[in-house]
Amino acid sequence: MRISDNKIEEIRIAANIVDVISEYVQLRKRGKNYIGLCPFHSEKTPSFTVSEEKQIFNCFGCHKGGNVYKFLMEYEKISFIESVQELAQRYGVNIEVDEETTGKQSEQEILYDINTETAKYFSNNLLNSSEAEIAREYFQKRKIKPQTMRSFGLGYAFPSWDHFVNYAQDKKIDLERAISLGLIGQSNDGRLYDKFSGRIIFPIFSPNGRVVAFAGRIIEKKENSAKYLNSPESLIYVKGRILYGLSHSKDEIRKLDKAILVEGYMDLISLHQSGIKNVVAVSGTALTEEQVQLLSRYTKNVVLLFDADTAGIKASMRSIELLLKKDMEIKIASLPSGEDPDSFVNNFGREKFEEIIKKAQNFLEYQTEFYSNQGMFEDPSKTAEAIRELVKPVSIINDELKRSLLIKSIAKKFNLREKLLENELDKAIQSFGKQITNEERIRDKELIKKQLEAKLQKDRKISPREIRLEKEILKLLFEGKTEIVGFVFSQISPEEFLTEEHAKLAEIVYEAYKNNEEIIAASLIEKISDEKLQSFVLNLTFDKYSISRNWEDIYPGLPHEKILQKIAVDTVKRFRTEKINFEIKNNFRLIESATEEEERFELMKLNHELEKEKQKLNLNISIE
Ligand code: UTP
Ligand code: MN
Repeated sequence: MRISDNKIEEIRIAANIVDVISEYVQLRKRGKNYIGLCPFHSEKTPSFTVSEEKQIFNCFGCHKGGNVYKFLMEYEKISFIESVQELAQRYGVNIEVDEETTGKQSEQEILYDINTETAKYFSNNLLNSSEAEIAREYFQKRKIKPQTMRSFGLGYAFPSWDHFVNYAQDKKIDLERAISLGLIGQSNDGRLYDKFSGRIIFPIFSPNGRVVAFAGRIIEKKENSAKYLNSPESLIYVKGRILYGLSHSKDEIRKLDKAILVEGYMDLISLHQSGIKNVVAVSGTALTEEQVQLLSRYTKNVVLLFDADTAGIKASMRSIELLLKKDMEIKIASLPSGEDPDSFVNNFGREKFEEIIKKAQNFLEYQTEFYSNQGMFEDPSKTAEAIRELVKPVSIINDELKRSLLIKSIAKKFNLREKLLENELDKAIQSFGKQITNEERIRDKELIKKQLEAKLQKDRKISPREIRLEKEILKLLFEGKTEIVGFVFSQISPEEFLTEEHAKLAEIVYEAYKNNEEIIAASLIEKISDEKLQSFVLNLTFDKYSISRNWEDIYPGLPHEKILQKIAVDTVKRFRTEKINFEIKNNFRLIESATEEEERFELMKLNHELEKEKQKLNLNISIE
């Protein structure tokens, strides 16, 4: 069952964490929080803390913590969905009738429902029908277990020409819509027929796990019919925006911070079955920019694993350019000829497969090898051409530092002068630049400058004071007050945080804020996949009262809200001041190394402005 995020949030709000935990642990009030003996490790003095305000718990002894769902999952050893169901039942929240109560379904929802119902039909055919023996045998031959069939919703469409048409009529599925989804076809004389008949079925899921389309594979090779038949694009299915398997793989991709990109449905499914779960498949189309964009939300590290045939190599080369443009880190793995990921993992097993992934080459090595296999380095005139080809993808990379490192490595590999390659690179950049407008080039230049600056910032030492300040800002963000969060983000953007962890957390709050979601630690924590980050947040939020108490001493009697506002304004000011100070210092360094008088003058002018800006902070930053 799929429970909507809204429902999950509704149930969480209905179930007060203090009430729920009180059923298992004796809690005492201390200050704003409740404390008790931790149920997850043995202790004599209580370090288990529950915040009613933030709806989270944390144990300072064993570091278990989270929201009310997490508590039940840990305590009763149940899954997330089970904990949601249990609380829904206890608090009388109905999770079945989501739509009826909210009124009319949108057109998209109707289409999703038709696909869901159809997927059930196909799956039921495969798993339970006596007429599906041939399909079950086929999967058995391909070593797919029943458990895997269920988990990927695999199915079978009977060879009959109207079995599904009849089923759809019986179930009152709107036939017009079924036609638009490509499930049913209509012949010239108006007769309706099954589109997928006689094929095994792979439902295609959106990243959230909804069925947006189907692919049907022919069981026996036939002349004149395509091996795979795919649903047409529709209101809910845009081919270039879907990566097959992402809904099954996204958690693992985040966890391992790496995705393996394969070509086929069966490749992905077989890899999953053997425990390799950070995989997505492009399936049929050439990789698109939107697919890369989608994937980049989960990781920047991609291993391409395409078939070793020429089509596969061509696809790799194209994909490399696209991925480079989006600043992804790419490696390319190669299988022995004649194998695809599915056959390889079935023939040789998981460990051998992982070795292949470990041996993945960076894209330069891969391309070099490719040109070398074509004999291009044996002929001097062709060598020049090969080098030009090699430099081309480098020219696409936005990051100047990365580019120069790659040029160094090509130079080393071919024993060439770097200067020579730089000239080639400049040419390539120029011809690449010709394809884009002048305006874009300026924007690119600014981007490069920004990235260089960002790099400089990254490489610089981060002072303990800066870390402290960032933590204080984060505390404010996780305080659960939308007004405060809005104020902070009016002055600070998430990328300004200097450590990656801090930036990630700020980004999570920022997303929630932008989407008008509730800003409360208990639901924010649900969006943090990394356990270390989760406990970092828990410690941070429970630790807050130490500072706020100081403020309560300074402003006795002032309400908590007002004190928070004062803290927020003060902290944001200090944060901005720190940033300006850094820039000023940096400019002084540049002034020292500047060779042109004019440049020095410009920098000094800049610093003068920065000083003025700093003085104005007091006036410009306020919460009302
Ligand atoms: P392959 O022909 O390599 O098939 O196509 P495969 O994935 O290895 O499938 P099996 O193992 O023979 O069953 C690779 C991918 O290209 C797309 C599919 O997504 C397929 O998984 N494709 C291929 C189509 O969309 N249509 C076709 O006619 C063929
Ligand atoms: Mn295959």
